[in-house]
Amino acid sequence: MEIVPQEGKKLGAAVHGFDYASASEEDIQKLKETVYTKKIAVLKGQDLDPAQFLELGKRLGRPETYYEPMYQHPEVPEVFVSSNVPKDGKQIGVPKTGKFWHADYMFMPDPFGITLIYPQVIPQKNRGTYFIDMGKAYEALPEELKKAAEGTRCRHSVRKYFKIRPHDVYRPISEIIEEVETKTPPVVHPTTFTHPITGETVLYISEGFTVDIEDAEGKPLETDLLHDLFKATGQLDDTFSNDNIHLQSFEKGDLLVWDNRSLIHRALHTSAPEPTSSFRVTVHDEHKLYDGLTV
Ligand SMILES: [Fe+2]
Repeated sequence: MEIVPQEGKKLGAAVHGFDYASASEEDIQKLKETVYTKKIAVLKGQDLDPAQFLELGKRLGRPETYYEPMYQHPEVPEVFVSSNVPKDGKQIGVPKTGKFWHADYMFMPDPFGITLIYPQVIPQKNRGTYFIDMGKAYEALPEELKKAAEGTRCRHSVRKYFKIRPHDVYRPISEIIEEVETKTPPVVHPTTFTHPITGETVLYISEGFTVDIEDAEGKPLETDLLHDLFKATGQLDDTFSNDNIHLQSFEKGDLLVWDNRSLIHRALHTSAPEPTSSFRVTVHDEHKLYDGLTV
């Protein structure tokens, strides 16, 4: 196994010669260390079926199966499928996922530390995923914004981007909204936390899922603060030229493993979408998202 930092990039390392089945425990530790310190590890030359992809994920942690069944792979439910490519005339998984800044499962009480994405059908023109390292972005914040965020908590919800399911057709919208709020009520996490492995301070907010900010006593704060934090971290830049934004490209055989504590991400979709599909496995490592999280 050889690990090579991505040249000229803020984030990422390429990992050559990784085979999940024969990797030693030491290799796995090295890989995880790369994920935590370089934030994205691109495993090169992978050729896996969905069951093998899940096995690879299990070497890094305990898999979390996505809570909405329509995203699950028909044979391996732990594999989440994002796809606009029908298989045998049938829709598998869900198209156009994640076209907004988010960390995976941020709206859940117990988010996982590691996300693995394995692109299957790769677009010719527009390929890649945008990332922001929210540890680095926090560091670069003006002092007054750091101060304003100190000791506060944020509320996260899936409500803005919940996708209507096939069986929701003809249901009243109020009923669907009520179901979303009952099944996945908003959760509260600290606005910043200490990364349990690297010790960095991470600003844990995203434009897609974070809906409110409150003080330590639970009193709502003016939402300008959230807006200012989104803006300062680059999340409102629709040209994607902000210095904090990293576009991670990939090619056939690449498998991306990233630090879901530090990174927020956003899919690159265009108005005339090309065929694209990817598999995702998500895992909990030895730590909770942050120390003190009790679920
Ligand atoms: Fe995502």
